[in-house]
Amino acid sequence: MSGDALLDESVTDAIRQQPGFLLVYKFAIEELMTKLRILSEEFDLTHRHDPIEHITSRVKRPEAIAAKALRRGLAADLAAIAEGLDDVAGVRVVCPFVSDVYQVADMLTGHDDVELLRRKDYVAVPKDNGYRSLHLIVRIPVFLSDRVERVKVEVQLRTIAMDFWATLEHKLFYKYDSQVPADFATELTDVAALAAQLDSRMENLHRRLH
Ligand code: GTP
Ligand code: MG
Repeated sequence: MSGDALLDESVTDAIRQQPGFLLVYKFAIEELMTKLRILSEEFDLTHRHDPIEHITSRVKRPEAIAAKALRRGLAADLAAIAEGLDDVAGVRVVCPFVSDVYQVADMLTGHDDVELLRRKDYVAVPKDNGYRSLHLIVRIPVFLSDRVERVKVEVQLRTIAMDFWATLEHKLFYKYDSQVPADFATELTDVAALAAQLDSRMENLHRRLH
């Protein structure tokens, strides 16, 4: 067995042996989901428009955490991993319109107990392949029986059109591994531009009503 594989396994084992490690990420997700649900329902009541279509979340699997820690050259201990990885907890917020994406992000980061660590705006500046979404790395307090832990969560906010593209792109690329034909990538980037046009036309219709 290679050194890398051993390191990988020792991290996976360490995570499994300390169930509290992943549990705080689950709690952080629950806290964040509650905040988002409240924003969604209250905004709907006061503005007659729900800015959130649906929310999904996941805690990264131990194997995936270990593999990423290895790629990042992190030390094989849990403290270094908690410090070095921003996406052990992930929340994806799918909004109807582009303006909702920014509105939800602003409302969420306006909460006193939500600390914004990083913001990447791939909506304003899409990635070269056409990927669009607003990414936030936030840190929120999780109140445990004997202490407070400040836990990082990656929040991805996107429209339905952005989610459509990102989900299908991910599916298509999964099959290809690394060998992707050039025309395939170009076609996907073209489709991303179409999705962006749909968003902008829908946004215009939305503005006429609100
Ligand atoms: P990661 O190591 O992938 O987390 O990269 P990063 O730390 O530079 O973060 P970035 O904000 O670029 O991307 C984080 C996450 O956004 C990824 O794990 C995906 O969930 C999503 N993402 C980023 N780029 C793409 C893309 O081109 N296609 C799809 N489908 N998802 C993407
Ligand atoms: Mg990631």
